[in-house]
Amino acid sequence: MKEIVLNASQKSVITCGEGAFEKIAPLVKAQKSFLLTDSNVFELYGGLIRQTFGNTPCYVLPAGEENKNFARLGEILSAMGEAELLRTSCLFALGGGVVGDIGGLAAALYMRGIKCVQIPTTLLAQVDSSVGGKTAVDMGGIKNLVGAFYQPELVFADPMFFKTLPVREIKCGLGEIVKYAGLDAEIYREVVKHKDNLYDLSFLAEITYACISHKANVVRKDERETGLRKSLNMGHTTGHAYELYDKKMSHGEYVLVGMWYETEIAKRKGFCKEEYANSLQELVRAVLGKIPVLDEACLKGALMDKKNEKAGVVTFVAPVSKGIFDLVKLPYEEYVAEILKAAEAIQC
Ligand SMILES: NC(=O)c1ccc[n+]([C@@H]2O[C@H](COP(=O)([O-])OP(=O)(O)OC[C@H]3O[C@@H](n4cnc5c(N)ncnc54)[C@H](O)[C@@H]3O)[C@@H](O)[C@H]2O)c1
Ligand SMILES: [Zn+2]
Repeated sequence: MKEIVLNASQKSVITCGEGAFEKIAPLVKAQKSFLLTDSNVFELYGGLIRQTFGNTPCYVLPAGEENKNFARLGEILSAMGEAELLRTSCLFALGGGVVGDIGGLAAALYMRGIKCVQIPTTLLAQVDSSVGGKTAVDMGGIKNLVGAFYQPELVFADPMFFKTLPVREIKCGLGEIVKYAGLDAEIYREVVKHKDNLYDLSFLAEITYACISHKANVVRKDERETGLRKSLNMGHTTGHAYELYDKKMSHGEYVLVGMWYETEIAKRKGFCKEEYANSLQELVRAVLGKIPVLDEACLKGALMDKKNEKAGVVTFVAPVSKGIFDLVKLPYEEYVAEILKAAEAIQC
C-alpha cells in the first residue's frame, strides 16, 4: 500500500494498493457519514458494504451515465438532508466515475461543502476520475456541463475491485492508461513491457499507482486546467468528437481511437519520431484491435473542444518523444484533411 499526498486548493491524500479498503471502517465510525454507491456495486459488494458501513445512511444510484444528472443530484442532497448530515459530516462515494462525479458534487454543495472520501471501484475511476477534484453532472445532453472543482479529502484505490470488472470496463480504463503512456516515459516503458498481458491484475495494480502519481503531479501544478492539466486530454479531442457522434463504445475506447489518429498526424507532420509514434499506435491496437475509419461527419465535435482558444482552430495534445508532448493547433479544415489521410492509411 502506498500513499500520495496531493496539495492543491484542498489537501487530498490518496491511499493506493491491496488493503486500502480496510482503512475505511474506522473513518466511517469516527464521524457522521453518508454512503453513495450504485446499484451494481451494491449488489456485488453488499456484504462488504454492510460490514464496513453498518447502518450508515445510504443512497443507491441506479447504475449508468444517464443517472449522472441534476434530478438525481437533488435526490442525493435530499437524502443527505434527511440523514441530518452536518457541516462536519463526510460523504463516501463508492463506485465508478459516475458515482465519484455526482457524489463529489453533492459533497461540494451540501452546506457549502462537506468532506468527501472517494472509493473508486472501476479501473477508469482509479487511474483517472477519482483524483484531481473535478466533479460534475450532465445536463441537456452535454456531458459534465454543471460541476465544481472540489478535492476529496481522501481517496482509497484498492485493486480488489478489479476482480469483478467486466472485460469491457478494464478495456475502458486501459484507454486512459495508454494515454498516460503517451505522457510519461516510465509508464510508457511499463505498458510496453506488459503489452501481451495488459489484463493481468497485478500489472493493473502497479500501473494504477503510477498513473495516479502522474495525475497528482499534474494537478499539483495546475489544478484549474489553465496549462499543464490540458495534457491529460491526449487523445481526447478526436476521441470526444467521435464519441459524441458514435455513442457505441466506451469512453476509453474512444480515447484510444483519438490517440491513434492524433499520433498519426503528429508523425506525418514531423512532430513525433516515426519509431516512437509507431510503438504508441501498436499499444493502441493491442488494446482496441481494429481502428475505425473516421470521416468528416465524425469530427464536428472537435470544433467545440474545450482546449480550443480560437473559433475554427482545433487543439490537440500530440506525443513528441517519450514523456514529451505538445499542444498542436490546426485550422479545422487542415485537421479534417489530416484525419482523412490517416483514415486512408488504415484502409490501404
Ligand atoms: N472527474 C474526472 O476527472 C473524470 C475523468 C474521467 C471520467 N470521468 C467520468 O467518469 C464516468 C465514467 O466512469 P466509469 O467508467 O467508472 O463509469 P461507471 O461509473 O458508469 O462504471 C461503469 C460500470 O461499471 C460498474 N461497476 C463499478 N464498479 C464495479 C466493479 N468493481 N465490478 C463490476 N462492475 C462495477 C458500474 O455499475 C457501471 O455499470 C463518466 O461520467 C465520466 O464523465 C470523470
Ligand atoms: Zn478520459
